[in-house]
Amino acid sequence: MYKVDSMDMFKALWGLPEQCQDAWRLGMESPLPQAAAVSNVLVTGLGGSAIGGDLLRVYSSGKMSVPVAVNRDYLLPEYVDESTLIFAISYSGNTEETLSAYEEARRRGASIMALTTGGKLKQMAERDGVPVLEIPGGLAPRAATGYLFLPMLAVLQRMGLLQGVEGEIDELVRCLQEIRESLKPESPLESNLAKQLARNLHNRIPVIWGASGTTEVVAQRFKGQINENTKAPAYWNVFPELNHNELVGFEVPKELLEKLHVVILKDAGDHPRVKIRMDITKGIVAKVVSGVNEIKSSGEGMLARIYSLIYTGDYTSVYLATMYGVDPGPVKIIDYLKTELAGR
Ligand code: PA5
Repeated sequence: MYKVDSMDMFKALWGLPEQCQDAWRLGMESPLPQAAAVSNVLVTGLGGSAIGGDLLRVYSSGKMSVPVAVNRDYLLPEYVDESTLIFAISYSGNTEETLSAYEEARRRGASIMALTTGGKLKQMAERDGVPVLEIPGGLAPRAATGYLFLPMLAVLQRMGLLQGVEGEIDELVRCLQEIRESLKPESPLESNLAKQLARNLHNRIPVIWGASGTTEVVAQRFKGQINENTKAPAYWNVFPELNHNELVGFEVPKELLEKLHVVILKDAGDHPRVKIRMDITKGIVAKVVSGVNEIKSSGEGMLARIYSLIYTGDYTSVYLATMYGVDPGPVKIIDYLKTELAGR
């Protein structure tokens, strides 16, 4: 397994708990954005750098009095103004959509904080006197999910927009340290949930379903990790919405439906009616797809619960890559696209 892993994705996975700890520390020590009154928060970024924004949106929705939106575009929504706090996030610091959105945020007079390892984003922010929260380089952006999310929590707490996150960070680190023992490559199939999931998803099209407000971001992340690490197609959706459209599409063509494998993500915070929906839905699709797995989050606080599932999904996508003989690290297609775009 280690042989095909040219970018040490397994090593990065193992280090996630300590990365989370370090990410929190960086956020607690960073300069703060200049913001008089914040009426809304917007995270702008793409791919592995944007998912931290989704994590923030879901985590903060029941805890913060101002809304959080995620922007994955060159442009910003019309409402962005001086009262908007913007986190411009790019692991490389060179993603053109994020740089464009950053310039737009400057024109609108928004309070900005740049979260990056360097690149043009760092240069532009330093030129403009915008605070830069510099995170360590050398990882694939999607392997830096702790660095691309947790510093925002620390900053928002220090700005008085969030409270009591520290306890959750301690629990998050402990929880991840505990579950990595069963997810690591040395842990055998019988006790390794990620290996079991990878075995079930092998030669199948993964369909990952989460729930609105809890595991939706995990479903999205899991799907993205299968795309980027495994280099395979995968699809995601959320309850209850999928009960109103996607579920109807499980009748034909039968020979293709047999190639789907559904993973349902479950969390203690799921709405009671959603839990019932999951059971009924499982009964419907289990008859036509190759299989259905339900995986449950562990831990008490929301951070630990969400990350316990993210961790399982991340490991699964890397095991799945190795089963296909694919190197999980490089994303040559993204690199090619970025090079082509830079030349035009
Ligand atoms: O995981 C990846 O490599 C991508 O999804 C990148 O995160 C995405 O292309 C954006 O790049 P960056 O994170 O450097 O802004």
